[in-house]
Amino acid sequence: MTDLIEALQAPTADRGTGAVRTGTPVSRVDGRAKVTGQAKYAAEHPAPDLAYGVVVSSPAAKGRIVSIDTRAALAVAGVVEVLTHKNRPKIRSFDIAYKDMTAPAGSPFRPLYDDHVMYSGQPLALVVAETFEAARYAASLVTFEIAAEPHGTKLSANLDRAYKPKPLKAGFEPPPDEKGDTDAAFDAAPVKIDAEFYSGVEHHNPMELFASTVIRGEDGHLTIYDKTQSSQNSRWYVSHVFGLSKNKVTVRNTYVGGAFGSGLRPQYQLTLAVMAALHLKRSVRVVLTRQQMFTFGHRPETVQRVKLAAERDGTLRAIWHQAIAETSPIEDYVEVVVNWSGLLYACDNIKLDYKLVKLDQYTPIDMRAPGAAHGVHALEVAMDELAYALKMDPLALRLKNYAERVPIEDKPYSSKELRACYELGAKQFGWDQRPLEPRSRREGTELVGWGMATGVWDAMQMFARASAVLHADGKLVVSSAATDIGTGTYTVMAMIAAEAMGLPLEDVTFQLGDSTLPVAPIEGGSSHVTTVGSAVAGVCEKLQKTLFKHAQKLRGSPFADVKLKDVEFVGGTLRLKHRQEAALPLSAIMNDSGLVKLEEKYLMLPNMLKQRKFRRLVHSAVFVEVRVDEQTGMVRVTRVTSAIAAGRIMNTKTATSQITGGIVWGISQALHEESYADHRLGRFMNHNYAEYHVPVNADIHAMDVIFVEEDDRIVSRLGAKGVGEIGLVGVAAAISNAIWHATGKRLRSTPMTPDKVL
Ligand code: MOS
Repeated sequence: MTDLIEALQAPTADRGTGAVRTGTPVSRVDGRAKVTGQAKYAAEHPAPDLAYGVVVSSPAAKGRIVSIDTRAALAVAGVVEVLTHKNRPKIRSFDIAYKDMTAPAGSPFRPLYDDHVMYSGQPLALVVAETFEAARYAASLVTFEIAAEPHGTKLSANLDRAYKPKPLKAGFEPPPDEKGDTDAAFDAAPVKIDAEFYSGVEHHNPMELFASTVIRGEDGHLTIYDKTQSSQNSRWYVSHVFGLSKNKVTVRNTYVGGAFGSGLRPQYQLTLAVMAALHLKRSVRVVLTRQQMFTFGHRPETVQRVKLAAERDGTLRAIWHQAIAETSPIEDYVEVVVNWSGLLYACDNIKLDYKLVKLDQYTPIDMRAPGAAHGVHALEVAMDELAYALKMDPLALRLKNYAERVPIEDKPYSSKELRACYELGAKQFGWDQRPLEPRSRREGTELVGWGMATGVWDAMQMFARASAVLHADGKLVVSSAATDIGTGTYTVMAMIAAEAMGLPLEDVTFQLGDSTLPVAPIEGGSSHVTTVGSAVAGVCEKLQKTLFKHAQKLRGSPFADVKLKDVEFVGGTLRLKHRQEAALPLSAIMNDSGLVKLEEKYLMLPNMLKQRKFRRLVHSAVFVEVRVDEQTGMVRVTRVTSAIAAGRIMNTKTATSQITGGIVWGISQALHEESYADHRLGRFMNHNYAEYHVPVNADIHAMDVIFVEEDDRIVSRLGAKGVGEIGLVGVAAAISNAIWHATGKRLRSTPMTPDKVL
């Protein structure tokens, strides 16, 4: 166990941190390792005899490879091999359809499989050399002759091909059946809105590039450092693709420099690195370039239409929400875009519709708050439009239609403190000072506007295992194959365990990021705290019981005649609640019982029978101030207040960081991020940080985060619901609504760049 801690560089809190409570702000235990460069990422692990692979990407969007000329590349000093579909190793399992744990319906992409080119940027060759430089240079010398076929990459030109996807993805809920008679209700209502929305492609750009370092042991065992949101998913994938048994492959992801969904599926650099390592019988590393980060999935281009109808007093009569999004020729990538419109506002007539169009692109992949980022955006801008049509305050319209039970299905919410989000957020922001009329405030050269929106996301719980080992010196090691993509998993799990066992935080290490550890789900959907956190709480409870039993058996034990409920674990001791001087240090119990270590394992299964009686969601209310320069069309988001209802917050510092990160990304979605495709080439053109814009420090101003009180024991035993994606949802809509309030101009597509604002 200790060996593994070192191999995994599992971080532990600094000496002197002492006891901390969940629900308080605690600095991340991996912070020092990260800012000093000691934390090693996937591309940083050394190996003797390491070879370097560089991917050569397709210049064509669709067609057949007629020939590949690798002679010049192979002539470069230091080049070991150039792998293509022609000479790749023959692997039987590679020919059989395989899937990763998160694959949508369809047939997953296999790099270097055959001569088919299905998208621009598709990996067509891997150049392997003794040095990265040699590989990179040689890669530039590989040439292809491709018989091009006509391609279609433009969503708007292919909408007539839209079809309803089969709901085959785990966790994907297709739109529910219509409630009431939406068309009739819409026609009959006195006030209505009918609006179309367009959201362009966004690309995942975490700081850390996608990379896999495959270290081949002398016995042929592969230890793979992979950038992924699940070491076990990557391990499972490698085993299936290459026909390697579980004990022949270990995948680690001890540190991940952001992923935001792009690491939910194994990416092609992993396949290629393993393929080369097996073929060459040596260690191989493959790192994608920033350009290649635009070739493995993206947030899909989506068009939407929302129709809302209401009585003159604001009572909603009809909600109709349709979305059409793109997917690839090989898979039906699905996300929940429209269903949110059946969950937020009380309404008797709701119709929801979601379709896909196949384009000659790679399969899209989840990006932070997948589906909600687009769907809730459209709904919340439409709600703002409706409020103006009614001459009603946008917040008052939402309160007027506040849902106490889930509108689209006959279920209660497990908890819903959205009203408190509205109230506290509005108060903090000063919303009551807002004039209703647009264009009513000018300061200097800028128009000032205020907008708001509601946010919603799932509160999910999966299943997980955890183990805990208490050592004789009182140190506790808790393990699960979880992931920390920068969200604070190391810290929060250690906090939960330390609190349960009454230990100072520095005596607890949580180890994650290794496929051999107890089963954990993929870190996605903001579900790690509810899932892994509950497993940690569960294993600690077992440890408490066992330790208590040992303590009872000690000679002259003060606990001999009491029950577990009469004792508490505090200050590194077990003590009686009513006679606190009767305390035994945990290390003394261990030593006096002759125990070197005490180990417990726990399987956390969600109580699905109970959970399914409730709709389990997290909510937010977002209030935004923008300043718009009418001369230049520049928009500044000068103030954001986000009030969040997400159950108990385990660590208010890391949770606040999640929300401010989401706000920054919401600003990015609203004003900056845009992929330009040249549809003649079928290619994303601005595939670099210079031309694909993300906000910089100067774009980000005041951000206030409020967590309203909520405690949800249906979602998890901790009362937590999970904090992550919710920070993003609704932010861009609130910005759009604020731009309307500032300028009187309604913008329905993102990003809202100066050309649209003017
Ligand atoms: Mo997130 S899109 O669940 O990584």
